[in-house]
Amino acid sequence: MISLSIEKCLGFASKEAIYAWEPKVKAAQEALENGTCKGNDYLGWLHLPSSLTKEHLDDIKATAQVLRENCEVVIVAGIGGSYLGARAVIEALSNSFTWLQDKKTAPVIIYAGHNISEDYLFELTEFLKDKKFGVINISKSGTTTETALAFRLLKKQCEDQRGKEMAKKVIVAVTDEKKGAARITADKEGYKSYIIPDNVGGRFSVLTPVGLLPIAIAGFDIDKLVGGAVEMEKACGLNVPFAENPAALYAATRNELYKDGKKIEILVNFNPKLHYVNEWWKQLYGESEGKEHKGIFPAAVDFSTDLHSMGQWIQEGERTIFETVISVDKVDHKLEVPSDEDNLDGLNYLAGKRIDEVNKMAELGTQLAHVDGGVPNMRIVIPSLSENSIGGLLYFFELACGISGLLLEVNPFNQPGVEAYKANMFALLNKPGYEEASKAIQARI
Ligand code: PA5
Repeated sequence: MISLSIEKCLGFASKEAIYAWEPKVKAAQEALENGTCKGNDYLGWLHLPSSLTKEHLDDIKATAQVLRENCEVVIVAGIGGSYLGARAVIEALSNSFTWLQDKKTAPVIIYAGHNISEDYLFELTEFLKDKKFGVINISKSGTTTETALAFRLLKKQCEDQRGKEMAKKVIVAVTDEKKGAARITADKEGYKSYIIPDNVGGRFSVLTPVGLLPIAIAGFDIDKLVGGAVEMEKACGLNVPFAENPAALYAATRNELYKDGKKIEILVNFNPKLHYVNEWWKQLYGESEGKEHKGIFPAAVDFSTDLHSMGQWIQEGERTIFETVISVDKVDHKLEVPSDEDNLDGLNYLAGKRIDEVNKMAELGTQLAHVDGGVPNMRIVIPSLSENSIGGLLYFFELACGISGLLLEVNPFNQPGVEAYKANMFALLNKPGYEEASKAIQARI
């Protein structure tokens, strides 16, 4: 089970001040439960884990099996909440090097639809030329330009390369029940499709088919992933006392630190497999809280890598930051530091120690140094990089995000600011319907 320690924040914010948030946290939890909070039409994620049925999960697994049997490569086309959750889980659970090996037990998962780089898309289509590939087209609105553009290229290539019949088998849509181009195409072409529930926003959708289908195709156990989330749903429930509820404590602590001028939260890992969990978390918190000229700026680093780039800033830069470290209790493999007769590198003092022991001392040493440097530090411990632990971690962050956004008094479930760049891009590209905006923007440049 996941645990949270706020002890290394207490020199910066008092326990009394953090615990003083308890009534507000309780009110936020009740508002989420009762559906009376801001954005209450987007609360479908709240009890999603415990409401997923065996039939639904089995259906996803059956579709995954079709793609596993017919594809060497599967492209997940999506952006933001329609992309990051799947990538976060798959990268956290995957062997770092399997995709480079010739013999594979699952299709290689590749991502597209999250950029508009001509080089990226050219190189992707070149790479796929001799591959048996399939595509999951993921878009809740079904109209996101980045994703639609990539899907247009991939659909054509898949049909040209594999034939219409096979394309129909290996292209799957995850989209709205009724509206949007992705839905229209899926229905017209007869693709297998999944619905993203209306009341689940993109960044909270990892435990819908948006995340579950790619994760199952990659060979991971979605029952265990969901099981971990169900455990956290219970461990963070309304009836759990504040002091024992990690989501409540995390939300309260970060808001208290923010109130005291700690405007930036840095999510830290000591395992490169968690890089995309950081990215998923950045979107979850950034899009949920950055509103009305308020909100903690969510940043992220991978240590040790970034100790040698961002470490200096964190240790001695402006004191407006706090850190939240995700620590993995047990690693999957065992590797000891070998002894060396010549000891030219001077590392014999580590001989016989597990690499993870060295990593854990880097983690502890960093925590103490940063606290000494004026950086409050929270620590989240997950038991391992397993489906169960990651499922729990995702739900923990989602619930804490909902509570935290309500403490900040914003609507955590909308993202009006994301539209601004799209409107400009459409005007600049002369999209039909944007004629007036096109004239206006041309006059500005
Ligand atoms: O969290 C969100 O709502 C966004 O990040 C969306 O997921 C993202 O913009 C993609 O939207 P769509 O799924 O409609 O293509």
